[in-house]
Amino acid sequence: MIKNYQTAIVTGASHGIGPFIVRALAKEGMNIVLAARSGNELEQVATSADIRAAGVQVLTVPTDVTQRDARSALVSAAERTFGSVDVLVNNAGGDLQREFHRYTVGEVEALIALNLTGPIELTRLLLPGMLQRGRGHIVNISSLGGSVGFPYTEVYSAAKDGLIAFTRVLRADYRKQGVSSSVLILGPIGGAGTGARTMEELNLAMSAMAKASMSPPEAVAQAVLKSIKRDKAELVVMPGPGRLIRTLMTFFPGMGPAMNEMTGSTQTMKQVADLREQQRAQAIAGVNSPVQQR
Ligand SMILES: NC(=O)c1ccc[n+]([C@@H]2O[C@H](COP(=O)([O-])OP(=O)(O)OC[C@H]3O[C@@H](n4cnc5c(N)ncnc54)[C@H](OP(=O)(O)O)[C@@H]3O)[C@@H](O)[C@H]2O)c1
Repeated sequence: MIKNYQTAIVTGASHGIGPFIVRALAKEGMNIVLAARSGNELEQVATSADIRAAGVQVLTVPTDVTQRDARSALVSAAERTFGSVDVLVNNAGGDLQREFHRYTVGEVEALIALNLTGPIELTRLLLPGMLQRGRGHIVNISSLGGSVGFPYTEVYSAAKDGLIAFTRVLRADYRKQGVSSSVLILGPIGGAGTGARTMEELNLAMSAMAKASMSPPEAVAQAVLKSIKRDKAELVVMPGPGRLIRTLMTFFPGMGPAMNEMTGSTQTMKQVADLREQQRAQAIAGVNSPVQQR
C-alpha cells in the first residue's frame, strides 16, 4: 500500500484511461470510489476480474462532476462508506472537438466545468479532511494540448493549463501540512481513451511519427502511482524526454503547431471537427439521437 493510503476516489472511472488507473491503485491495496456518469460501466469496472483479484472494497457513485450537488454527494458517499479519502485522482475530462468559433456559451461553460471547476471543487471538498489528518494526495490529469497548440482545443487547453497552475499552487500551499498534489501532463494516448476512439470512429490511419508519440494507458496508471509514491510535482507522460519537449514548446511557441502540421494532426483534427459538425446538424435535424461525445 502506498504511504498506507487506504482509499482513493477516481473520476472518469467508467471507460478510457480511468479503469487503468483504478486497477493500478486497487493493485496497491487501496479501496476505490469510482465516479463517472455511466453507472452500468462503473459497475462493469468494479466487478471486473482484476479488481476482484485485488481484494479491495469498491464503491460506485454515478456522478456528473460538472454538477455542484453531485460532487458533494460523491464526497459524502465516499466518506460515509470508508470514513475518509486519502487520494483524489481528477481524471474525468474531455473535449468537444469543435472549431472554437462554433461554440455556444453553454458549451464553453460546460467544458470548463468538466475540466477545471470539477477538479478544483472536488479538491476543495476533500482538503479540510485531509488537512485534519495531515495526509493526502491530489493527482490531476492534464494535457500537453495547450503547450503544443493542438488544433481546436482552445477551451479544453485553457482549462487543462489552468489545472496545471492550480496544482502547482495547491502543492506549494499544503505540502508542508502533509497534503501533496501532482499533475500528469499527458501527450497522446493510444489503445484506450478519446484519441484512440476518435481514430477508430473515423477509420483513420496514423502516421509513423504520430504513433511514435503515443503512450499506452498503462503508462498513465503507472505515472499516477509514481506521482504519489515519489511525490512528483509534474510528470509528462510521453515517450522520450517528455519534460524536455514541454520546455522546448514553452521557449519556442511556434514549434507545436509546426509539429502538428508535420505529423498530419492539423489535417486530421479538421476532419474530426467537420465530422462533429455533421453529427451535430443531424442531431438537430432529428435524424439521429443527440451526439454522444465521449
Ligand atoms: N486520451 C488522450 O489521448 C488524452 C490526452 C491528454 C489528456 N487526456 C486526459 O485524460 C483524461 C481521461 O481521458 P480519456 O481519454 O480516458 O477520455 P474518455 O475515454 O472520454 O473518458 C472520459 C472519462 O470521463 C468521464 N466523464 C466525462 N464527462 C463526465 C462528467 N461530466 N462527469 C463525470 N465523469 C465524466 C467519462 O465517463 P462518463 O461518460 O460515464 O461520464 C469517462 O469515464 C481526461 O482528463 C483527458 O482530458 C487524455
